[in-house]
Amino acid sequence: MSDLREKFVVGNWKEKIPPGGFEYYVYKLNKFMQTRRSFSMCTPTVVICPGDVFIDSMKRQAKCFQVGAQNVHADLAADRAYTGRSTADALAWAGAKFCIVGHSECRRDFGETEDLIAQKVIELLRCSADLITPIICVGEDDWVREESDEAAELFVRGQVRHILESMPEKLVEWVMIAYEPIWAIGTGKVPTPEQIASMANAIGVELFAHSDDSVDELPPILYGGSVNAGNAAEIADIEGIDGVLVGGASLDGKTFGQIIREYCQ
Ligand code: 13P
Repeated sequence: MSDLREKFVVGNWKEKIPPGGFEYYVYKLNKFMQTRRSFSMCTPTVVICPGDVFIDSMKRQAKCFQVGAQNVHADLAADRAYTGRSTADALAWAGAKFCIVGHSECRRDFGETEDLIAQKVIELLRCSADLITPIICVGEDDWVREESDEAAELFVRGQVRHILESMPEKLVEWVMIAYEPIWAIGTGKVPTPEQIASMANAIGVELFAHSDDSVDELPPILYGGSVNAGNAAEIADIEGIDGVLVGGASLDGKTFGQIIREYCQ
């Protein structure tokens, strides 16, 4: 890890609870982060995205890390009621500082389209541009990657472009992008560092093209998909990648700690 940009280690618990329980996990993560902060010159921003029911309680107990949500409600049709959804206002009230949007599992299970995802991003930023940071997930299917690396980059650039084109330019600096190839999620398969670096560069081109000219720094780009203690160091060294979005491995406090350590200096 070479550059001085802020780094992010984000845990996506999905529908799960850590095996040792919620309270114990939060207690251990607080202690771990306190120790890291006293021994490191710089530590990453650590974010846990639990199920919505835990956000408020986690926010109250979290001392050295941030809390995020896994999705947000946005209404393209307007003026209807939606049972079982959480709005950006509700998430902000509960204390979420980040929110994952466009996760491939939500695209698959809830039929989320690029238009709806863009609407969600705008909804989060409408709340107040720096209150909740949207973490926009993009990534190709295995058949696209198998076609060629260029096809995968074109596909992901198309996803990013579609979302950014629907947003005011001045809001682009407030988002984060997570590159999560669908074929790498929960499979143990990971693209090569060269493929990830090249994808980060391709995403950066889109971010640059859609940013306000006055922006000094492009938004952070994370990598997600089968990140674990064994590959975290290699991923931390990839140019253009500012951190990781971790699924299964974030549920085990010890493993998650080992991943965080790769981003401490
Ligand atoms: P895994 O780390 O379990 O592959 O999940 C990645 C993910 O979907 C994070 O959002």
